[in-house]
Amino acid sequence: MSGTCVIGLQWGDEAKGKIVDLLTREFDIVVRYQGGANAGHTVVVEGQVYKLHQIPSGVLSPGVMNVIGPGVVLNPPIVLQEIDALAGRGIALTDSLRISDRLHVVFPWHIAEDRAMNANPVGGESIGTTNRGIGPCYRDKYGRSHAIRLGDLYRPDFREKIEGIVEVKQRLLAQLDSTEVLDAGRIFDEFSGHAARLEPYVADTTNYLLDAVEAGRRVLFEGAQGAMLDIDHGTFPFVTSSNSSGVGVCAGSGVPPCWIKKVVGVVKGYTTRVGGGPFPTELTDETGERIRKLGNEYGTTTGRPRRCGWFDAVAVRYAARLSGVDSLAIMMMDVLSQLSEIKLCVAYELDGRRFETFPSHTDDLRRVKPVLEVLPGWLQDVRTARRIADLPDGARRYLDRVAELIGRPVEIVSVGPGREQTLFA
Ligand code: IMP
Repeated sequence: MSGTCVIGLQWGDEAKGKIVDLLTREFDIVVRYQGGANAGHTVVVEGQVYKLHQIPSGVLSPGVMNVIGPGVVLNPPIVLQEIDALAGRGIALTDSLRISDRLHVVFPWHIAEDRAMNANPVGGESIGTTNRGIGPCYRDKYGRSHAIRLGDLYRPDFREKIEGIVEVKQRLLAQLDSTEVLDAGRIFDEFSGHAARLEPYVADTTNYLLDAVEAGRRVLFEGAQGAMLDIDHGTFPFVTSSNSSGVGVCAGSGVPPCWIKKVVGVVKGYTTRVGGGPFPTELTDETGERIRKLGNEYGTTTGRPRRCGWFDAVAVRYAARLSGVDSLAIMMMDVLSQLSEIKLCVAYELDGRRFETFPSHTDDLRRVKPVLEVLPGWLQDVRTARRIADLPDGARRYLDRVAELIGRPVEIVSVGPGREQTLFA
């Protein structure tokens, strides 16, 4: 057994960090392979809260190697802050973190462009990005001629590249009504400093991972965001700019599909979404507000209140099939335990027709009505449960129904933020 993936099956924030942290002890290497500082993974270890943006959640387990793969877009000052913050808490990463020299670097012009585009969306609703420069950086990667990879920071023409790109980006930003002033010399100095500090971690992670899987080492792939935010298969254009479903693992890490042996799909017992875009089961009433409060549903990266709604089995079943999910991890059961009635979306209705397939166009998704099944709540504290059998009947019935709707067994249930509040089937 070599490759296991942990993939979010909703719109992100499914608490994947907790699952990765828990599974890590069975693995030698943890890999982040897409996304960037837009992600926020929270892990609680012995009451200590760690919030990670770019560094894999495996750093909290001694002896594990953590890899940031070529499919990630890296924000150097933020990753250095994370490295420093972990060092300040006694976790040194010199021997346990490797960053791909092939990955693309987020520069100040990407962040300025992201802000400008968010402020002036063409044709209506803003995507509501995290303003971390993710989309503009990926766009430059695919455009190729104005892109800088991490390995380029160590080459003699780095200054020349910065100067050429700044000239173009300054004109672009003016067209987007951005007042950002780019100073090529200052950016060169700043990023040369970052490059020097990052150098001990920079490596050819593609060959490192190929050697590792061929040698039988166990690798855990940590997805960021969720499958419904996938650039190709999600709710476009209200998505992120990478393949955040299971299909992104191989491209983003460089590890081919033959090494992927298992996929764990992570979902909350309800749904959340941050930013714009359709959300069929959204609750804009008191129940939605209650779930937000009970689940502390505020973004780890941006602090924005998350939109909350009922569990959407149509979306999750689609995401589970797309990601090749073998089993489910169901999170936040302690939040559901405080609701007297729980609803599940089992199908959609559009123009008088009922169906269970996730629509490909957001205009249709915007118009669907969720078909909701009502289950009685169990209203019992589940935070001290240590086995699935300890859960109240109502909670077990709920889990069984979710497994049936998604067509995948439930393997892990989370009843609180702590490592010990995790039940394995
Ligand atoms: P971007 O990834 O910053 O470009 O944002 C695109 C969309 O993805 C926005 O709706 C964001 O709110 C959402 N998004 C990006 N990263 C995350 C995440 O880690 N959790 C939840 N939503 C995210």
